[in-house]
Amino acid sequence: MGDFVNLPASSADAPRRVPGHLAIILDGNGRWATKRGKPRSFGHIAGARTLIRALGWFAERGIQHVTVYAFSTENWKRPAREVASLMRLFSTLLRHNLDILVKNKIRLRISGRRGDLPPKIQKAVAEAERITAGFDRQLIVCVSYGGRAEIIDAVNAAVARGEKVTEESFQNLLYVPDVPDPDLVIRTGGEKRTSNFLLWESAYAEYCFIDALWPDFSERDLDDALSDYASRNRRKGGIA
Ligand code: FPP
Repeated sequence: MGDFVNLPASSADAPRRVPGHLAIILDGNGRWATKRGKPRSFGHIAGARTLIRALGWFAERGIQHVTVYAFSTENWKRPAREVASLMRLFSTLLRHNLDILVKNKIRLRISGRRGDLPPKIQKAVAEAERITAGFDRQLIVCVSYGGRAEIIDAVNAAVARGEKVTEESFQNLLYVPDVPDPDLVIRTGGEKRTSNFLLWESAYAEYCFIDALWPDFSERDLDDALSDYASRNRRKGGIA
């Protein structure tokens, strides 16, 4: 679901299947900074720069929806200094990089327990979502997000309504219910686990684990992952 055949990047390339929805676990910012003898916040800033650069690569390849795991429900347990620096970074990105989203015609959406965020950030998020609401291509940023939390929040919403759920009605209770399931999940930073990311939505996603730390993620890494994805035989429980 969600796949479509993209136009070739150059006449030498054959058309290939690209994921309609790409999800990324942005891992490795802290290690990237530590390797350079810098504070972890330095790695997060470098990671944000990489994400901004990558938005152009995704658009050029015709990827319609991108979800990034920026801050998990568990990340609140990090040292207060690191949490504060990440919140400052989100705030700065929302205030100073909206023009990049508008220029690339990208709709920004936040997925997660947004009520956990400082009120000023909640306001900036709502404003950014309003300004970009008319665009089709989407960037979904998971902040204070946990796959289990999302499922629990959906279950509680169903219970509050006294409803018995089906797969379809449950989907409608998720944070961004109208976004198709991810086709491909990339995790950078060398770890091979899902870390509570899109537990419901990734039921049939393909996974690609990349050793590069997120700030070093390159256009080449993306193309390698996309080539790997294009070669997978997606049966989703059916037969080839
Ligand atoms: C995981 O690396 C990364 C994060 C917890 C933060 C990700 C945030 C950004 C890339 C900034 C972009 C911001 C937005 C709003 C999209 P880690 O710190 O766990 O790295 P480590 O595994 O090396 O310690």
